[in-house]
Amino acid sequence: MTLHRRAVLAGSFACSLAAGLASGRASAQGDGLIRRPIPSTGETVPAIGIGTSRRYDVAPDSDAMAPLRETVARFVALGGTVIDTAPDYGRAEEVLGRILTDTGLREKVFLCSKVAARGREAGQAQIAQSFRRLGTDRIDLIAVHNLIDPAAQLPLLRELKERKRIRYLGATTWAEGQYGDLEALMKAETLDVIQVNYAVDARRAAERILPLARDRGVAVMVNVPFGRERLFNLVRGRDLPPFAAEFDCASWPQFFLKYVLSHEAVTCPVPGTAQVRYVEDNLGAARGRLPDAATRRKMEELIDGL
Ligand SMILES: NC(=O)c1ccc[n+]([C@@H]2O[C@H](COP(=O)([O-])OP(=O)(O)OC[C@H]3O[C@@H](n4cnc5c(N)ncnc54)[C@H](OP(=O)(O)O)[C@@H]3O)[C@@H](O)[C@H]2O)c1
Repeated sequence: MTLHRRAVLAGSFACSLAAGLASGRASAQGDGLIRRPIPSTGETVPAIGIGTSRRYDVAPDSDAMAPLRETVARFVALGGTVIDTAPDYGRAEEVLGRILTDTGLREKVFLCSKVAARGREAGQAQIAQSFRRLGTDRIDLIAVHNLIDPAAQLPLLRELKERKRIRYLGATTWAEGQYGDLEALMKAETLDVIQVNYAVDARRAAERILPLARDRGVAVMVNVPFGRERLFNLVRGRDLPPFAAEFDCASWPQFFLKYVLSHEAVTCPVPGTAQVRYVEDNLGAARGRLPDAATRRKMEELIDGL
């Protein structure tokens, strides 16, 4: 894609998003889910995904598979598509691949994995393993995991993209100490997607990374939107504030996800989700209104005050 086309798409992305945020809905389809564009192509994805670290690391033949299969099936039935995994998540890729094959849902999922290897050959071997484990010949997105050796892995990912084995490439981090390197990479390279940590109590990505992503036309997946158990511990035993109803928020997980999603640069948070009831709750964050700027500040103040 030319820089011009990218800039035009990024511009139209910003406009449609601004309009969508004002109305509280960005491109809701029949399932009622807010959708967000990937600026490099304009393709839209439902604005809440699933992360698979830790909870999908189970024995693929064990009873632990059943709830995960039900979780993925329910997620897709409700209109979700984006699922994030990685070769570093133990058996998660294999488990997810098995679920997608058993349920026949591969074609309905926007499948995201990563590469965490040093050197081209190690990267090639790990990516080949991801295709095998995921049981597919096409992975929608592969991102350089935690910025490990992008100089070797990005050229590899570009070749895979040219050969249509992957559709998007990118880079991830969840460590503030890597933000400077991520920023430099985003300026030096053309990335489709970044994945970064961002939460109502961990907002540093909003200082430079998210604005840069918006300016460069890079989609943003958000990892660790709950800070794992951190935010839940903070609000344990507390009721939602009455103003949560003003943006159609019915639970604390929705409060945390709607905060993340209402940042104009954010495409799709991927909360770790391994239970059907969590799918139903979390996808609720991609429905209805989103908080405006003033409400976002109230949300920050409330959380900062705990
Ligand atoms: N560098 C990277 O690329 C990187 C780094 C970290 C994470 N990630 C990705 O980002 C994803 C999300 O991060 P994360 O899983 O570490 O942390 P997270 O999304 O902040 O928190 C996940 C935990 O929240 C709980 N949860 C989820 N939905 C809930 C709900 N509706 N109600 C109550 N509890 C709920 C679950 O706890 P229980 O399961 O314990 O009940 C789950 O384990 C990962 O799965 C992974 O795909 C990427």
